[in-house]
Parts: sequence; structure tokens; C-alpha cells
Amino acid sequence: MARSNVLEVTPLTSAIGALLSGINLADDLSDDLIGDIRQALLKHQVIFFENQDLSPKAQSAFAARFGDLHVHPLYGKVDGNPEIMVIDNHVDNPTDNNFWHTDVTFIETPPMGAVLHARQLPPVGGDTMWSSMTAAYKALSRPMQTFLEGLEAVHDFAYAFTPQGLAGSQAGAEQYEKARREHPPVLHPVIRTHPETGEPALFVNSVFTSRIKGLRGEESRALMTFLNAHVQKPEFVVRWRWTPGAVAFWDNRCTQHRAVDDFLPHRRVMHRATILGDKPAFRAAA
Ligand code: SIN
Repeated sequence: MARSNVLEVTPLTSAIGALLSGINLADDLSDDLIGDIRQALLKHQVIFFENQDLSPKAQSAFAARFGDLHVHPLYGKVDGNPEIMVIDNHVDNPTDNNFWHTDVTFIETPPMGAVLHARQLPPVGGDTMWSSMTAAYKALSRPMQTFLEGLEAVHDFAYAFTPQGLAGSQAGAEQYEKARREHPPVLHPVIRTHPETGEPALFVNSVFTSRIKGLRGEESRALMTFLNAHVQKPEFVVRWRWTPGAVAFWDNRCTQHRAVDDFLPHRRVMHRATILGDKPAFRAAA
């Protein structure tokens, strides 16, 4: 088993993001090394690895060291590896993930993280940005934090995915209807406590959060407009320029991300393995 003493961690900003080098993710990695990677993920929220020769099977095996994998109800998958979701954007299938979001918050136990591998890159553009939701929380005033800590929000599959708006999913109407029936709206706390670090993080997003429970419609819309703008502040954000074979591994419990839609007419193909997490909860600080 590979145990590296040369795992090098280079932070990319103070708030979020680090480049990890000295590791080949396709190796049979030791538990110690997986522990080191987990620690880096918890500290930096999104970690990057360059030049990884990672088959779908190897990507799946690496991601599964961190938890059970989610199979997306709509998006295309790799043949024989349904847990590897394919994001294949080109002129006939423009990107639909160019909005700030946290993945799959429409289920009771949203993913703890995801491992994204660059398979085919455009010659220009196609970066991805991640924003730290612990930094976003910390930047709010104490009265605003206290207000939000008492709230829950509705996360809704059908708010994000409509039968007409299935750009990346390749799903037909029947598959869509089945997925919609199987995913009724769920409630999550607006501020969640990270289950491993104990840090509070903002946990609403523009794609899946349809409303804040208990507020009037106009109040909910105004608050979501404010929060959806707040999370985009550049001081919470790292922007990653992909290179062939690069991998990003993010903590989905305390980040949002967005792909930048600036590469058409070129093609961009990414493979994502999504790792299931726990039920979000808020615990008041002792
Ligand atoms: C995603 O939205 O999960 C993937 C982001 C990307 O394609 O860069």
C-alpha cells in the first residue's frame, strides 16, 4: 500500500482551497494516507490534485474510501460505473451547472463530498469556482447569524430540475417523473454544524433551496436574494484552472461551487463521484 511522507499541501487562499502533490490517487492508498487527505479536506474544504491517470473504476474506488457513493437520478453515467456521473458539455448540450450550488441537497442526507476528474478540457475557459460557507457564515453580523440559526429551508428537486430544463441530464420524461416522485421536498437547517469540524456553515443555495420555512413569500425571496449574493463574495472563493487529468475533491457540507460557462463551442467532459453524507443538523455553540 502506498504511504507517502511527501504529501505536500499548498494553500491557495486563506479561506478555501489547497493543492496536494506527491500522491497518485489510482494507487492502493494506506488508511494513514486517506486520513491525511481527509484532514486536508477538512482544513481547506476543496483540495486539488494534478496529473491523475484515473479510470472511472479507480475514481470510484478512491471516492468510496470516504463513504457510500450516490447515483444521480437524472444525469448520464459511465457504462458499468453508474456511480460516476458524466458532465459532458458542448454546443448541443450547454452547461447547466453554471449557478452557485451545493450538490444534491434535495435529499435527506446530502453528499459529504465529491471527486471531480477532468477528462476532456476546452483549450480556453471551463474553470470551476468554490466558495466557503464557513467563511460566508463568519462574515455575517451576530444578529443575522442568530436569526438564521433558528431557521429551516425547503430544498426541492423540482425547483432545480424541470422536464424542460434537463440540459445535462439526458433523461427522458418518464425518468424525470420517476425521479420527481422519489424526491419530495426536504427540510434542512439554514445553518448547519459541520459534523467533523463543528464549525457552523451556511447551508442554502440558489439551485435547490426553494424557500425559507415560516417566512412570508416576499420575506423568503428577499432573504434568499441577499444570501445568494453574499456567498459569491470573492474573499470566500477559490477559482481553479483545470489542467488535463486534474482532480478536485470538495467538502459538500461547507462549500458551494459553480462551473464557468465560457468555453463553447469547445467541449468539456468531467466525471464526478459523489459521496453520501449525513443528515444536516445545527448545534448551538456551547
Ligand atoms: C458540478 O457542478 O458538480 C461540477 C462542476 C464542474 O463541472 O466544474
